[in-house]
Amino acid sequence: MKRNLLLVLASTLAVLSSGCGGGDPTLSTGIESKQAMSLAVPQNGVWWNPTQSGRGYSLEVQGNQLVFTMYLYDDSGSATWNTGILNQQSDGSYTGTLSRFAGGQSLNGSYVAPSGVSTIGTVSLSFTTTSAGTALLTPSTGGGPINLPLEKFSFSTATGAATTPIFQSGVWWSASESGRGFYVETQGDQVSIGSYMYDTAGQPVWYTTLVSLQADGATASGPLLQFSNGQTLTGAYKSPGLANTVTGNIKFVANSSTSATLTLPNSATVALTRFQFNSGSTTPTPAARGKVIYANSCALCHGSNPSTNIDKVLKGANSASTILSAIAKNSGGMGYLSSTIEATQASDLAAYLATPGI
Ligand code: HEC
Repeated sequence: MKRNLLLVLASTLAVLSSGCGGGDPTLSTGIESKQAMSLAVPQNGVWWNPTQSGRGYSLEVQGNQLVFTMYLYDDSGSATWNTGILNQQSDGSYTGTLSRFAGGQSLNGSYVAPSGVSTIGTVSLSFTTTSAGTALLTPSTGGGPINLPLEKFSFSTATGAATTPIFQSGVWWSASESGRGFYVETQGDQVSIGSYMYDTAGQPVWYTTLVSLQADGATASGPLLQFSNGQTLTGAYKSPGLANTVTGNIKFVANSSTSATLTLPNSATVALTRFQFNSGSTTPTPAARGKVIYANSCALCHGSNPSTNIDKVLKGANSASTILSAIAKNSGGMGYLSSTIEATQASDLAAYLATPGI
């Protein structure tokens, strides 16, 4: 527990002292206006506003959709969560409805489908880099829109050699127990598990677990922490405290990259798989992800159809390094993309440029 809070504090200080570089004054006006239109695809995992620790967001992108879950507190101080699957817009932002589910399965309870869903508001997310952006939230209760700064939450201690996880980071669930979900993310040798479910009265509740990834790269085990009395959706900042409830331990053991066994505090086990929310079926291929990134970040200069090979863009086919080096060298003014196109995006783009007909 102490460690958890210390990590939060340490990364808050790191963020506050790092300052902000500001824009590049050397860019020409033409490129600046293109830059304004180029939004990034965010990294998956836990996000927050470092100046408002205790409230945050779990998010994952699959193709042109993003699942966004906000963990916060209700007016009575209880931990609560809202969620929505947002759709990517032509400008690269993600918009959709944020909902509150209730009446579903509790931590140790048997399965019951959520019985109540209410609309909390609409939300639009825009990411200027893969690790920073804003959420524009319009609550259904009126008022707003509220502008929420978002930053990727770094919880890794990054000391010593990182253990390579055998499992994927992202949303996990039991397909036969819909309504309850787990956001699992590894950073270095640390695993964060956000558990989203309901209390025994059916109210939505979340727990958080931050533990070391064991040497097998598959196992993460530790206490479920429950916080309370933090910031509400529209309220001013309030620092939360640990709720005085004994929730017990969970143990996550991956059997493959997409399947795992979760042991609950009452020793019951649940078979988990990765949650495929986009088109209800398969994870998009790297080329399909690259196509979306190309439309957002490259089409402005290289044309909407890369097959036309404007400015030799096809040299990037199957070659992430060519793309990254063109950005690093600021070829044709591409340098500003360095904060949105990192190794993952470049390799997706390289796959797309190799199969531009998809
Ligand atoms: C601001 C306009 C602009 C944007 C946006 C842009 N490019 Fe370029 N790109 C250029 C120009 C101009 C060249 C040709 C530079 C030259 O020949 O010196 C180029 C060259 C390239 C090349 C060839 C590099 C080489 O080694 O010859 C690749 C590959 C490439 N771009 C990929 C991309 C990808 C992928 C994106 C999107 C992530 C992108 N570009 C976005 C303007 C742009």
